[in-house]
Amino acid sequence: MEEPYSPVTDDYALWSCEDEDATETEVIQLLGALVATTKPKICVEVGAYTGLSSFEIGNALKRNGRGHLHSFEIDPRHAATAAERTAGLPVTVHPIADTEYDPANLEEPVGFLFVDGDLDNRSSSLAHWRPWLSGNSIVAVHDSLKWYDVQLAIESVEYLQRIDIVTPRGLTLMTLAPEA
Ligand SMILES: C[S@@+](CC[C@H](N)C(=O)[O-])C[C@H]1O[C@@H](n2cnc3c(N)ncnc32)[C@H](O)[C@@H]1O
Repeated sequence: MEEPYSPVTDDYALWSCEDEDATETEVIQLLGALVATTKPKICVEVGAYTGLSSFEIGNALKRNGRGHLHSFEIDPRHAATAAERTAGLPVTVHPIADTEYDPANLEEPVGFLFVDGDLDNRSSSLAHWRPWLSGNSIVAVHDSLKWYDVQLAIESVEYLQRIDIVTPRGLTLMTLAPEA
């Protein structure tokens, strides 16, 4: 479907999405390209929903020939759909909140983090994963231009570089400062 009205850009109808809760298709494609370009060993996604972005990231990892995506989804029905969609890919869908997972269980630091949970829990996710990011990690936060809560969450972390990509909902890419 066409992306619904957004005050972020007058051109909002040029973007598309599977449904109103799904990430813009063009953003999903960009996430796959970022993973293909940067070759992370461990990817984390907060908010799989039906697994569209998980599928794209998982496919990029499969083509890379290494790496694994840990994707978190609190709604068990959506988590089951995402697990079905990503079957055969290097993806584990965890049917829990990301903040319930102990990152110490991961075999490597997180090289790519995509934060796309609820609008009011992005800062908790960023704080939870922050100590487990590797030096070159890319952090991608969705909905960053449409929602004030998400902008506040982004401002809650100390970033070295930041680019706000204009889409109807917005995607912010960051590299973070090393922890003090
Ligand atoms: C906007 S949707 C994600 C869209 C998805 N990335 C896609 O490709 O279409 C947000 C999802 O995040 C889930 N969610 C919200 N907070 C979460 C959390 N802390 N951990 C895991 N899932 C979360 C919600 O249940 C919802 O399905």
